[in-house]
Amino acid sequence: MTQSTKIHTPFSPPILEGWISMENVDKINKYLDNLNKDKQKIKDQDNGPHLAGDITQETDVHDFLNQDNTLMEELMGYLKDLIDHSYVNPPNVKKVNIGQFWSVSQYGGDYNPLHMHSGDVSFVFYTKVPDLTKEYEKEKHRYIKNKKFQSGDILFAYGGYTPFSGYQRIFKPEVGKLLMFPAYLGHAVYPFKDKKQERRSFSGNISFELFDKNAI
Ligand SMILES: [Fe+2]
Repeated sequence: MTQSTKIHTPFSPPILEGWISMENVDKINKYLDNLNKDKQKIKDQDNGPHLAGDITQETDVHDFLNQDNTLMEELMGYLKDLIDHSYVNPPNVKKVNIGQFWSVSQYGGDYNPLHMHSGDVSFVFYTKVPDLTKEYEKEKHRYIKNKKFQSGDILFAYGGYTPFSGYQRIFKPEVGKLLMFPAYLGHAVYPFKDKKQERRSFSGNISFELFDKNAI
């Protein structure tokens, strides 16, 4: 590409890719590990019935944000980046609320079908990922050339196929990796096979309160 070349791709919902600090990854993992010791709390805070997937354990962890605001600060920094870089006319946001915040502990055979979230912006970050080297090796023969789907990946889908632009984007979970996206953007999680390994992520929905909310 020459220096004067610019390629504009304005017709797509944005997906921000960032990183949550290892300090916060460790803190929230410990929080959930402790919660897991209290079977009654896990039962009381079961978020599975509200969610789309067939997942071993999904737990409401909103209380973590009340105990520690450094994670909130990190998330808000990325939210600002997303707003600043993707809106044609940035919304006049007065306040943001994280309405829901939950953990997803996925084991072999679990999956999340194509679904969307509520609110304005959603996010997911990963705090444990299974070692799927052996599964990847076995799956090799199934891949269509240049289509890099692998077990446990997250897929985002939007629109249909058009020449010059895609209709799907896949990301591989890594510990600390954060993905932030418009809540309406459809996504799905592929299953993996190993029933002993956990793929752990935390997801949330953010809603905007606008300055001019009552103006119309
Ligand atoms: Fe989701």
